[in-house]
Amino acid sequence: SLYFYKTDFVEKKGVNLTPDDRGYYFGDGIYEVFRVYNGRIYEQQAHMDRLQKSAADVRITLPYSLEQIGDILTKLVQLNELVEGTIYMQITRGEAPRAHPFPAEATPVLLAYTTEVKRPLTTIQNGIHAISLEDIRWLRCDLKTLNLLPNVMAKQTALDRGVQEVVLHRNGTVTECSASNFMIVKDNVLYTHPANNLILHGITRAVVLRLANALHIEVQEVPFTLEQLQQADEAFITGTTVEVTPVLTVDGSPIGTGQSGPVTRKLQLEFERTFA
Ligand code: PDD
Repeated sequence: SLYFYKTDFVEKKGVNLTPDDRGYYFGDGIYEVFRVYNGRIYEQQAHMDRLQKSAADVRITLPYSLEQIGDILTKLVQLNELVEGTIYMQITRGEAPRAHPFPAEATPVLLAYTTEVKRPLTTIQNGIHAISLEDIRWLRCDLKTLNLLPNVMAKQTALDRGVQEVVLHRNGTVTECSASNFMIVKDNVLYTHPANNLILHGITRAVVLRLANALHIEVQEVPFTLEQLQQADEAFITGTTVEVTPVLTVDGSPIGTGQSGPVTRKLQLEFERTFA
């Protein structure tokens, strides 16, 4: 399976990463994870818009135009004959000896590859369990940067405690999860944290909110608390890799019936229709 690295499609051994890549020293870069369904890149334009925003706000000049990046990814999918899987793409600020200031002359480095990771059908069907955990990240969680140590730590805490995911909160207000957004349903109203600086503006989140509107499910993009979560009828996470996955318990307490709920089911069915 081929990689795209800097300027060329190469085998993995052709990826000549240097320790001077600022992604390695500082996590100084941005990324996107795309889903490929039936050989096609899902919601490509939304990912490109988000990439552009991340790049602008961390002041990385994209090494190619968005259109060229789109062409590179399409070519990568073709070359790798990818039908179902993901594309990982990152752009770091470039290569320079380790020093905090932006290097005067460094070319941003684009790395992209595909995986054949399948849809997590079992957890989509059966749901997952979660614990709540304080969200100790910075105040620009809307930027998709390579600095994922808090997310990695949070995920591992969940796994160490025998559950699959964390529900992050700031002073009791639920934000999102380690690599997905979080939604609850109460009295047939869908609630999720507003798309501000405290969460990643998930592509799947936006798709699900659009589908909810189409299904005449009322949507409230307002913050809610851990207590409100415990009183909710349903809960689920959304993300490129998890799609719409029910959350059955949080901190050991069942949400609603503790089973995947009817609104979640409806959204899952409708979601499948968007890429099928
Ligand atoms: N993560 N919130 C966080 C913190 C995320 O890292 C992600 C995605 C999401 C969901 O966004 P989207 O629907 O655009 O995938 C929310 C990717 C998949 C990752 O880091 O692997």
